[in-house]
This record gives sequence, C-alpha cells and structure tokens, in this order.
Amino acid sequence: MTVILKQHTQYPVIIEAGALEQLPLYLKRQGLGPKVMLVTDENVNPLYAQASEKHLQEAGFDADILELPAGERYKVYPIMGRVYSILKLAGLDRSSCIVALGGGVVGDIAGFAAATWQRGIALVQVPTTLLAQVDSCLGGKVGVNHLGLKNLIGAFYQPNFVLVDPTTLITLPDRDYRAGLAEVVKTALLGGLDFFEFIKRQAVALLEKDMSALEETIRRCLTYKAACISKDPEDQAGRQALNLGHTLGHAIEALAGGAYTHGEAVSVGLVYALRLSVQLGLPQSVLHDTITLLQQFGLPTAAPGLDMERLQDLFTRDKKVRQGVARWVLLPALGRPQLQTELPKGWQNILAELVEP
Ligand SMILES: NC(=O)c1ccc[n+]([C@@H]2O[C@H](COP(=O)([O-])OP(=O)(O)OC[C@H]3O[C@@H](n4cnc5c(N)ncnc54)[C@H](O)[C@@H]3O)[C@@H](O)[C@H]2O)c1
Repeated sequence: MTVILKQHTQYPVIIEAGALEQLPLYLKRQGLGPKVMLVTDENVNPLYAQASEKHLQEAGFDADILELPAGERYKVYPIMGRVYSILKLAGLDRSSCIVALGGGVVGDIAGFAAATWQRGIALVQVPTTLLAQVDSCLGGKVGVNHLGLKNLIGAFYQPNFVLVDPTTLITLPDRDYRAGLAEVVKTALLGGLDFFEFIKRQAVALLEKDMSALEETIRRCLTYKAACISKDPEDQAGRQALNLGHTLGHAIEALAGGAYTHGEAVSVGLVYALRLSVQLGLPQSVLHDTITLLQQFGLPTAAPGLDMERLQDLFTRDKKVRQGVARWVLLPALGRPQLQTELPKGWQNILAELVEP
C-alpha cells in the first residue's frame, strides 16, 4: 500500500507599494472568502486594518477584525483560547480565510490559528514590519511561545498567498525598522556579492524608506529565503544558513533581558560570525564594509558589558546545538555559508573583545 500526499506547495508573493488596497482583488483571484477575519494588533488596527476591512466590505466580503494586544509577550499559548472563541463567535468555517495583518508576532499567532482552526483554513500573510516583510511572512513557520520557550508550540503551515506593501513601513517605529535592516544585511551576505553591493549602494535610500529600494530589497530577501526553504521546507540543513549571526544573537537577546532587540542582537552576532569567518578566508574588506553598513543603519556592532561566561553558556545551549555539537553558520566567502561544528581558533578572544566594557 502507498499513501501519496501532495508533494509540492506553491503560492504567489506580491511585493508592491500600495498593494494593500488591492487585497480584495487578490483574495478574489485566489478564490478566497467571502468570510474573512483580519487578525491584527492594537497598533496596526487603526493604521491599516480598519481601512482594509472597509475595502473588503465594499468589495462584497464579510470581513471582521480580531485585534490582539501588541508585542512578543502576548505571543503565548493562552492567547489562542481567546482567538478561537472569537473565531467561533464570528462564525468562521472551513471555507473562511484568515488574513494576518501585522508584524511577525501577528503572523505567527494568526498563522497558528489558521493552521489549527477546524484542522486548517486558508491563510494570507500581509506583513507590516520590515522583519516580517523580508523574512517571517514566508516559509510557513507559525506558532506561539510557551513556558518561557520561543515557538515551543507551532506548525508548518503555508499561506495561500503573501502580500507585501512596503508603504506600511512608513509608520513603523525607527527601532523596529532598523531591526529589520539587520536581517536585510544578513540575507545580503548570504546572497552573495551582487546582493551585498546592491545593499551598500542602496543604504541611504533604505534609511529614507525609498519605495523602489525597499521593493527590490524585499524581493531579493524573499527570493533568497524561498530558495532555501524550497530545498528544505521543514527546517533542516539548507534552512540553517538563515541563522547566520543568530547563535550569538539569541544568547545576547536572552542575556541582556530586553536591552537589545532581536535585530540589534543579530547585528552583533553578524559581526562575530564575520570576524570568525575571516579566519576561514573571508576578505577583511567584507567584514569592514559590513560593520560600516550596520553602523550606518544605527545598529550596534559590539555588546559591551555582557558577562562572557554566561554568554558562552547560553550560546552552546542554543537550539542549533544538535547532539551536543553547536552548529555555527560561518561565511568563508560572500554567498557561501558553511555550517561549522567547531569554531576557529581565537573565538574566545574575539568574543571577549566584542563584550568588553
Ligand atoms: N515565522 C517565522 O519564520 C519568523 C521568522 C522571524 C521572526 N519571527 C517572529 O517574529 C516576531 C517578531 O516580529 P516583529 O519584529 O515584526 O515584531 P512585532 O510583530 O512585535 O512588531 C513590532 C511592533 O511594530 C508594530 N507595528 C507593526 N507594523 C507596524 C506598522 N506598519 N506601523 C506601525 N507599527 C507597526 C507592532 O504593533 C509592534 O508593536 C517574533 O515573535 C519572532 O519569533 C517569525
């Protein structure tokens, strides 16, 4: 006997300034609705969800808004009970659709709701932070934190389509925007010389939130991510390259208790990974240009004052520790990530330099 399951999933990704206004059109094209629940948070609701609800209703959709409190601390399992109760009250059934309109937190919660509501209903990701637009909207990782552990409960659940409207970034607070730029630098380093040079040329335009620079940057980041996850949809070796800068980054984030955003911690993690990579042959000029770029984006390139021993302890316990061996992503050349089980010589001295007061 053979059980044959659908092997391939594909979905469109629309990246266009002003695309949010076309949401009803894209939903119709994909045959979704008429019942639509816009899941958003308290900040994004007045900025974008209310207008979207109006557009949807005018186009004949039966649209409602489910507003979540904003922030990572609400991305926890108990919130799901409230979400499911509201979905029931609103009468969402298997033919309905959830639109995740917000940052990565909204995307993860709304995505998990779509994955589990009546064993899975249609999902559309409409990311509104730079991090969500260049990274989390694509790939299908959804879920919530539990018992203090990130994304302990979740699923892989792909959206029916992704709609990225960079004009929503105009209202994004500066610190959140810069956090997203750290992920952009990471992806450019992974993408190779052409992408890296593009970001260097577009740095000022990106700081000014120039729409054509943003559209092209988002397109390049998502193209890179799509290539990684198509090889590896459920998070094994291929997808690990995306963790460049994240092993130390996660440890800094955990140790500094809120003093560093995720993007800021990744920025320091990138500098560390590149300094180690220089020992494997990465040209010094790439390290230099990366530090200049991160500083231009207002991101930290060191984390002075953090406790070195506790940091080491934390990063060897990172989730990339497989069978007791830490998997570091290093970059012996632009565009050529390499997984390492052992760090090059001098790793402790370099770490000490990054955290010395
Ligand atoms: N699923 C994945 O593949 C994946 C990948 C990376 C990160 N993540 C998750 O993403 C989350 C972080 O996402 P984030 O950085 O987008 O944070 P976030 O969702 O908390 O958004 C940051 C802040 O910006 C506000 N906001 C969002 N869009 C706005 C806009 N256009 N204008 C004004 N304010 C706006 C939000 O209300 C919030 O206060 C984490 O939970 C992380 O685990 C998921």
